[in-house]
Amino acid sequence: MPLSVVILAAGQGTRMRSSLPKVLHPMAGRPLLSHVVDVAESLDPVSVHVVYGFGGDQVREAMADRDLIWHEQAEQLGTGHAVAQAMGAVAPESQVLVLYGDVPLLRTQTLADLVALGGDDGLGVLTVNVSEPTGYGRIVRDNDDHIVQIVEDKDATDDQKLIHEVNTGVMVCPAKHLSEWIGKLKNSNSQGEYYLTDIVELAVWDKVPVRALAAADEAETLGVNDKVHLAEAETEFRRRTAMNLMRNGVSLADPTRIDVRGTLTCGADVYIDVNAVFIGECKLGDGVHIGPNVVVIDSQIEDGTEVFANCVIEKSHFGPNCLIGPFARVRPETYLGSTVKLGNFVEVKKSNIAKGSKVNHLTYVGDSTLGERVNVGAGTITCNYDGANKHRTTIGDDVFVGSGVQFIAPVEVGDGATIGAGSIITKPAPAEKLTLSRGKQVTIDGWKRPVKKPKN
Ligand code: UD1
Ligand code: CA
Repeated sequence: MPLSVVILAAGQGTRMRSSLPKVLHPMAGRPLLSHVVDVAESLDPVSVHVVYGFGGDQVREAMADRDLIWHEQAEQLGTGHAVAQAMGAVAPESQVLVLYGDVPLLRTQTLADLVALGGDDGLGVLTVNVSEPTGYGRIVRDNDDHIVQIVEDKDATDDQKLIHEVNTGVMVCPAKHLSEWIGKLKNSNSQGEYYLTDIVELAVWDKVPVRALAAADEAETLGVNDKVHLAEAETEFRRRTAMNLMRNGVSLADPTRIDVRGTLTCGADVYIDVNAVFIGECKLGDGVHIGPNVVVIDSQIEDGTEVFANCVIEKSHFGPNCLIGPFARVRPETYLGSTVKLGNFVEVKKSNIAKGSKVNHLTYVGDSTLGERVNVGAGTITCNYDGANKHRTTIGDDVFVGSGVQFIAPVEVGDGATIGAGSIITKPAPAEKLTLSRGKQVTIDGWKRPVKKPKN
């Protein structure tokens, strides 16, 4: 039977105390809803429907790149009413899986098991046993252990409140049954809402089998209602990410202190120290070593390169066996060849630095091309910006740049040139020669330091 997925995301999420709609709050840098869409898509459904309401346009815009069918629920009249908004567009011969936009940690395998259990003829309910069931719908079973009802916390009797098996909200059911039952829902309950959970009693009435799958892992069914839950979800997501990395051979100094907000691909024998943050698509080659407090954004680092503490690396590519930092800032479009060294307080932007070159201390290299085996002295600056336009600095192979040089771009330095310390270079510096521009040093005889006037 084909599968349709309906994701409920119309609730306001008052307890988040935020102007951002709840389902857009980020877990691992991406909206909660996008994680739910990921797991929905992993089941290979014919369509994914999202019921939205509060913050509608914002939600749709944030998810614009996803293939979703949107249904507005103008008034939030309950989970049953929410599903009803989508049913007209759901393939009538399909099985419908209902998910919540604020339950972001469900695993593909769990949902696939539930879908299989529900089957062509039954209603599948994902339940979970929790130590603190307050607030959840309770799973009521008869003497033969068959599910007969889900009763909401606010409607439960004292006896029912003692039940620890609760509804996760995830259900699966053939569309033809679901449409029929949704049409029969009443809102005569303590909240005056159309409860999706009431379809259980209707199924029992129609002799449609109700089959429960108990989730093995409580963390998987965690629903995010406030910022505490959001932090718990982030922790669980981090734990899973760290486990996957370690199982693939990555050494983590502390699996609770790494953040991957995107995709991190690692070769063999990678070591990552504490508080590293990886954003977007990041790729580390074999033997790469990432120091503490390093931020890597959409970058690739090849085999054997070491990044020391407190570096920020964005949209760049490092060749093998480079040594970076500590405290280096590498801005977008920086390409380093092999064995390049960038030292402390070095900023590089939109530049190519070839094999074996060293930029070790307190330097700005922007819009530049450096050849092989170049040595740039401390405090050198490429003055790439004239206030209106950016200009390039081009430096050949085997150039030695003394400390404190300013290159007023556009400017070119030939292979093997030496630039004297403290020079301001405005014109081409020819190959193999020493070029320097320096004010003449003078000493003033008989000069006296000014002294403070006595106060009266
Ligand atoms: C729901 C279940 C409860 C279950 C709990 C698990 C019902 C009646 N109750 O309760 O059995 O234990 O989830 O977390 O289903 N939503 C809409 N439109 C609405 C109402 C809700 O889209 O009109 C969405 C919300 O955005 C949310 C989800 O449905 O994603 C659940 O709604 P919520 O109000 O949080 O339900 P609970 O009272 O927690
Ligand atoms: Ca809820």
